[in-house]
Amino acid sequence: MQLIRDPAQMAAFAGAAFVPTMGALHQGHLALMERAKQLADRLIISIFVNPTQFEPDEDYSRYSRTLDADLQAAKDVGVDVAFVPDVQTMYPAEQEIPVPPLPDVATAPRLEDAHRPNHFAGVCQVMARLLDLVKPSVAVFGEKDYQQLLVIQAMVQKQADRWPGLRIESHPTVREPDGLAMSTRNANLSPDDRRVACEIYHRLCWAQHAELPGGVSMTEAEHIMAELMRYVGFEVDYAVIRDAKTLMPLKTFDRPARALAAVRLGEVRLIDNIPVSPK
Ligand code: PAF
Repeated sequence: MQLIRDPAQMAAFAGAAFVPTMGALHQGHLALMERAKQLADRLIISIFVNPTQFEPDEDYSRYSRTLDADLQAAKDVGVDVAFVPDVQTMYPAEQEIPVPPLPDVATAPRLEDAHRPNHFAGVCQVMARLLDLVKPSVAVFGEKDYQQLLVIQAMVQKQADRWPGLRIESHPTVREPDGLAMSTRNANLSPDDRRVACEIYHRLCWAQHAELPGGVSMTEAEHIMAELMRYVGFEVDYAVIRDAKTLMPLKTFDRPARALAAVRLGEVRLIDNIPVSPK
């Protein structure tokens, strides 16, 4: 595996499969890499903790950085190139790195966009920069960050001429045995909080398992789901059932949708989502 820090050296690898990451790799990332390996002859990952997608009060400086272990794990999975740029490379002082036009799914649903108002501008900025430098034929993202996945898909669609032929692939969320979605931030949970954290998933599943008749009012179903989450001690940012493509509200539960939640448990913010369909 080659470790590359200089973007000029990436030109030789255009057309590879690409998994962008912020490092602190776990099984969820490795599953994306296994999938990506099947999609092109070569696999590139990037490891870059992107400062512009953190809100001012978030954990940029405390975000886990485990480069040596990450490089070993990537090598073991069969990654060909790890692109590990520094902040000066990604955001050179002398060059403005523009934020691309944000698609509606980044600003309209009032989900992550409402709670982290600068987040998707930062994600789109860094992803546009990475896609320009890496020039992959396909990039793979996890469904765990479902709104992010839709935002990146829409961003790439909006600027099809900039990245001709680029495909964005999704991969289902990888979960711990108790159902908790794998995430770098899980490591910050106290042992007590870790025990209840999986309830975000189980209470999302209520929307799937409950005998929700087609046509039930969405506000009613969402209210119950949010209450189920508060009951275990979560502070709920949102717990909603939305159109799976636009993430906009549905009046009634009459088509396949996505149940999504963001909750806070102590200092840690958890997000999760699952596909749901009316019975
Ligand atoms: O999902 C992530 O790890 C990040 O948001 C991404 C896509 C690598 C952009 O920094």
